[in-house]
Amino acid sequence: MLTEEETREIEAEFPRYETREAVCIEAMKIVQRHRGWVSDESIRDLAEFLGMTPDELDSVATFYNLIFREPVGKHIILMCDSITCWIMGYERLRAHMQQRFGVNLGDTTQDGQFTLIPIQCLGTCDHAPAMMVDDDLHRDLSPEQIDGILARYDGSANLANPREYVKNISGDSRD
Ligand code: FES
Repeated sequence: MLTEEETREIEAEFPRYETREAVCIEAMKIVQRHRGWVSDESIRDLAEFLGMTPDELDSVATFYNLIFREPVGKHIILMCDSITCWIMGYERLRAHMQQRFGVNLGDTTQDGQFTLIPIQCLGTCDHAPAMMVDDDLHRDLSPEQIDGILARYDGSANLANPREYVKNISGDSRD
């Protein structure tokens, strides 16, 4: 069931859109901000609330790769997986990350600290290769730098709330 707070936040979006269905991405982002991910149960509840079928909403969710349909780690690592980063050393970075974490892209480390997600151009091609960890952009990367960067996040209790992540990367600063 949607919480009162979630319902209130979703309803606040309605005036900005022509139909209830059009709010669906924002609605999923709201739920994800509160719960960390969007479960099947949340999809069902949201679909009912928005006048959609669960399948319709799920097809939007699976198209949009920053909506998490399964639990994610405490920190989200977005690895730029586009042409300039490919040219500038993406493969070495990816291999290093996968070896370090023992997971593939799209997976979460066993300790629940990090989820690795490939993403299209992060918009900083002149400083490729690049990645984001939560809200932080890291550029001009080499495998040698990676461990030092990730040590800042590993086990830290003072990092940005990962549930804020989708809101921030989408540039939404309204609340
Ligand atoms: S291709 Fe990686 S930042 Fe643009």
